[in-house]
Amino acid sequence: MSPKKTNTVKQSDIKDDKGDKNAAISLSPKRRKTSPPSLITPSKGREEQHIGGSNVSRRQLKIETDGAVSDDSDSMENHDVKSPTRRIFGRDTEIASVQSNTRQVYNLVKQLTGSIGGNGHGGAIYGELTTGSMQKMVDLMKIHTNLGPDSRFIDVGSGLGKPNLHVSQDPGVEFSYGIEMEHVRWMLGMSNLKVVLDEAYKQEMEGTVSGNDKIGHRCIFQHGDITEANYFDPFTHVYMFDIGFPPKLFKQLGEMFNRSQSEYLICYHGPKLMVDRYGFNVELIIQAPTSMHGSSEGHMGYIYRRKGKTSKIGHGLDLLDGVPCDKLFTKAWKSCKQNIGKHLESVQVQVTQSLNSKRPTRKRKAVIKV
Ligand SMILES: C[S@@+](CC[C@H](N)C(=O)[O-])C[C@H]1O[C@@H](n2cnc3c(N)ncnc32)[C@H](O)[C@@H]1O
Repeated sequence: MSPKKTNTVKQSDIKDDKGDKNAAISLSPKRRKTSPPSLITPSKGREEQHIGGSNVSRRQLKIETDGAVSDDSDSMENHDVKSPTRRIFGRDTEIASVQSNTRQVYNLVKQLTGSIGGNGHGGAIYGELTTGSMQKMVDLMKIHTNLGPDSRFIDVGSGLGKPNLHVSQDPGVEFSYGIEMEHVRWMLGMSNLKVVLDEAYKQEMEGTVSGNDKIGHRCIFQHGDITEANYFDPFTHVYMFDIGFPPKLFKQLGEMFNRSQSEYLICYHGPKLMVDRYGFNVELIIQAPTSMHGSSEGHMGYIYRRKGKTSKIGHGLDLLDGVPCDKLFTKAWKSCKQNIGKHLESVQVQVTQSLNSKRPTRKRKAVIKV
């Protein structure tokens, strides 16, 4: 077991209550101690909140992160967060704490699909956060949105599956679901999931591992287009690394979110786009700078909460254990509710079937010899 360490959200995560843009820039540990973190909660007006940490079994992981300009004038053009505080090696460093089971999962994934994620090019735009930045977003979700064992988390466009695998360990959500429209990426995600579940199953059989060392299994990936769903129910948290999503998709997602019960939206675009342009019925809780894998690009992560009343439960929604659930997600949720052995079996079946099914082949051009 790892030694107990205190995990706290860093000063660099937080926007100053006076709106000081530089407050979002990473500070040295010394300064962090003397100036307590504060943030703006729009629904309560401007007030100062002090952020504590959870005492969980964690290991300190040194990560790189870009400092950031807190710029709410969000547009596709100026969205990238560029560091104004380049240090000697071009980057700031900060400490993020990653739980033991999460670390094991990232190691398994790294062995299978590489550290930058593999298949990063081709098809719809691809990109993913560093482990430390993802941990930062998870910590903020835990503190500000009650992300926990009862939460149901969707990643819209799950790619190779790291955000879903992460929250299925820390905080170990009830249902971690990713949908991905690119077949190869979905298959890579499923392959990652399979090695993780194999390890979780081994641990279960041995019965010697517990607590934060034990790998969680309530995660699944589906190949498909999110617009096949009418609602985001049963998800409590709607997450999307939405860099490069087309405007039409944002509009559709906004309408879908507004007619669902889901309470939180986590994405990488500011209120000007999400609220004003795309009509998401949400208010901003907190924002934090993040860094991307294998690139100097950074993006501001935004955590929103639904604004006003939730709409009535949608017509035609199934109820699964009393919770409304869009038909698109029912099978996946049922699979995650099973024990580890059965869930692993169904993942294995899907991977095998997909590998055996005939994919469209490219016709070769005849080579004309002269
Ligand atoms: C920037 S990548 C993010 C991958 C992953 N969420 C992560 O953070 O590591 C966005 C992904 O969304 C997928 N995507 C885009 N539109 C989609 C849609 N309508 N339905 C499902 N997936 C979609 C893309 O194929 C791409 O793999």
